[in-house]
Amino acid sequence: MSYQTNTARILVFAGSTREASFNKRLARLAARRLEALGSQATFIDLQDYPMPLYEGDLETEHGLPENALALRKLLAGHRGLLIASPEYNGFITPLMKNTIDWISRPHQGESGLKLFAGRVAALLSASPGGLGGMRSLALMRQLLNNVGVTVLPDQLAVAKAGDAFDDNGGLCDEGHQKKLDAICQRLVKTTRLFDRE
Ligand SMILES: Cc1cc2nc3c(=O)[nH]c(=O)nc-3n(C[C@H](O)[C@H](O)[C@H](O)COP(=O)(O)O)c2cc1C
Repeated sequence: MSYQTNTARILVFAGSTREASFNKRLARLAARRLEALGSQATFIDLQDYPMPLYEGDLETEHGLPENALALRKLLAGHRGLLIASPEYNGFITPLMKNTIDWISRPHQGESGLKLFAGRVAALLSASPGGLGGMRSLALMRQLLNNVGVTVLPDQLAVAKAGDAFDDNGGLCDEGHQKKLDAICQRLVKTTRLFDRE
């Protein structure tokens, strides 16, 4: 299969489970763009994968939660990741950190970190504030790098998110639209390249 024609499989999710989450909106929009570009985008809502806060004794006694195993399986089946996450006090959300912590743990002799290796991610954020959650993007990038994910340099922070989306879930600002498109294009292309390895 040529890297230009193979289907890039990209897992898309948000770092917020809030029903009206701006980041879920952004993630869904990105998933539609990724599909339009010929990739296979799987949007998941972390609301459907609740997990307790990571705790070592819990892991020793019960092993990994069922939902951590389900997420590991999903990750194993996707070479690309697209994450849209809000910032809380300038940091990544506890949901995002907890999700990655559980997935990264070993299970039945299989390293969690091995699952992240060889994967490529693009990062987005949205916030009602003026910085669009931008401060957390560098931290999210660092966390993903620490578990072995390559993160694309392009990123998008959507500020004033309450006014940023139109009725169809698209972005009102043309600059934002173009940037999102460029990020999705680069992610599809790079995922295909990573698939060849
Ligand atoms: C604990 C907490 C801390 C927050 N800190 C920030 C912040 O540092 N910067 C920011 O832009 N918004 C901050 N917000 C506001 C969030 O960006 C806002 O709630 C946003 O809508 C959350 O994303 P969501 O719409 O995807 O759920 C914070 C919200 C909470 C609950």
